[in-house]
This record gives sequence, structure tokens and C-alpha cells, in this order.
Amino acid sequence: MTPKSLRKDTIMTGRALGYDEAGEGPVLLLVHGFPLDRTMWAEQISGLSDIRRVVAVDLRGRGKSPETGDGWTVDDYADDVAATIDSLGVDKVDLAGMSMGGYVVLAAWRRHPDKIRSVILINTKAEADSEEAKDAREKTAALVREKGTVELVNGLFPKMFAPSARDAVKDKVKTMFEDTPSETAAADALVMKDRPDSTSDLGSINVPTLVIQAEEDSIMSVDGSKGMAANISGARFATVPSAGHMAPVENPEAVNRAIREFLDGIED
Ligand code: MLT
Repeated sequence: MTPKSLRKDTIMTGRALGYDEAGEGPVLLLVHGFPLDRTMWAEQISGLSDIRRVVAVDLRGRGKSPETGDGWTVDDYADDVAATIDSLGVDKVDLAGMSMGGYVVLAAWRRHPDKIRSVILINTKAEADSEEAKDAREKTAALVREKGTVELVNGLFPKMFAPSARDAVKDKVKTMFEDTPSETAAADALVMKDRPDSTSDLGSINVPTLVIQAEEDSIMSVDGSKGMAANISGARFATVPSAGHMAPVENPEAVNRAIREFLDGIED
């Protein structure tokens, strides 16, 4: 399926946020994980643009979103998502997020529910960090500031994949790790550390919802994601075989199939 169009490197006015997009029709907006950028969704842009205007945005501070800073919050990232929706000239989107992107989607649901037609949560969770995880985030932020994102390549990177992940997939993700400015990676770590628990918000989600979880993800669990889906009224749940945390890149066919089946069932 060839995308109808691929308009790259668009920078919106106002807060400068870069995005790639292809296709026409209702918008499917994709929010990347940590420490990643919009390019993780290349296979979703090409694979789903026959049924949606697929847009992959760079949250502030990476990719084509040039701002730098710190002291950001998950609510700031949710507001980036809302600004993107406004800039696209649409009222509502199908909103998908992977991992940290899922934390952002849940924050967007709290802050901008009227802009969300459906929710897709991929390899993510609703719970806040434990005290131990918060300590680890502080250490990550300090380490990355001091030594650069190469520290994440040494530490987090190997946990991102199923054992069978292809070298080309790993190389692509490694490039995203390396291209994320260390200041932004540190800011992300603290955004995640301070994000609130979203568990009590799950019951308020009253739009169609799909939860996707990769079977070989060593960062998020199938049982955890199943539990999250069970707390969202009417949510569908799909697993992705032969993939780890980077499922949209490792097994895009299965991820796209699950999203396509879900979106096909949504009425405009
Ligand atoms: C991500 O992939 O976005 C992060 O690994 C999520 C996290 O560390 O909680």
C-alpha cells in the first residue's frame, strides 16, 4: 500500500513541533517513546496511510522540534499533542502512544478529552513510577547530562528488543537514541519520574480503546497491559508476537494489523 503523499519535516507555527505525515481522512496521531522520535513510526505511516491521515509528531526537544529546556512535565507533552491537533486543523484524532508516548496519551486524555476520538496504548502502563524507579530516573538524568545519551545506548538499549530483532531494526533505534539531545533525554527521564498515576483515569475513558502489548517486551508486561485494558470499558486487547518493546519497528505488520482492525470498527 503506497502512501498517497508523504509530507516530511513540517514545522508548525507557534511552538515549533516537527512531524511527518501521509494519507488523507481522519487523523491518526502517533506519539513516540523514550528516547526516540517521530521516525520510529515510519512503518505505520506507510502501512496505514490508505485508511488515515497518519501523523507522527516529535515532542519538544528532539527530531525536528528544536526547542531545548528542562523542567518539563507530562502535561507539557500532552499540550504539545493538543497543539499539534489544533495545527492540523482538525477537532479530534485517533491518538496512539508507545511507552512514554502512552503516558502522554493518558495525560492528553485527562487534559484534552474532547480532542480524542479513540485511544491506542502500545507497550505502556498507567501506573506511576515506584520510589525505586524514581531514584533510577534521577540517576539516569544526571548520567545522561554528564556523559551524553551514549549512556542510554549502553544501559537501556539492549532491553528494547526481542532476542530475534534484526540488526537493521536495532541500528534504526540506535540512531534515534544517539540523535536525542542529552538535555532532552534527561528532561524525559524526569518527566517520567514525576508523571502521576493514571490508573484512576482509566475508568473515565469512554472512547474506543485498543491496548497492544508485545509478547517479548522486557520493559512492560502482557499481564500488566491486560489489566490496564480490563479497566477501560470495552477496550480491545491485542498481543504482538516476535517483538519486544520496540514492536512498532520490530513487527510493524502485526502492530499495523491490530490498529487497522481496530480503526475499521470506528465510526466517523
Ligand atoms: C519508553 O520506551 O518510552 C520508556 O522505556 C518508558 C519508561 O522508561 O517508563
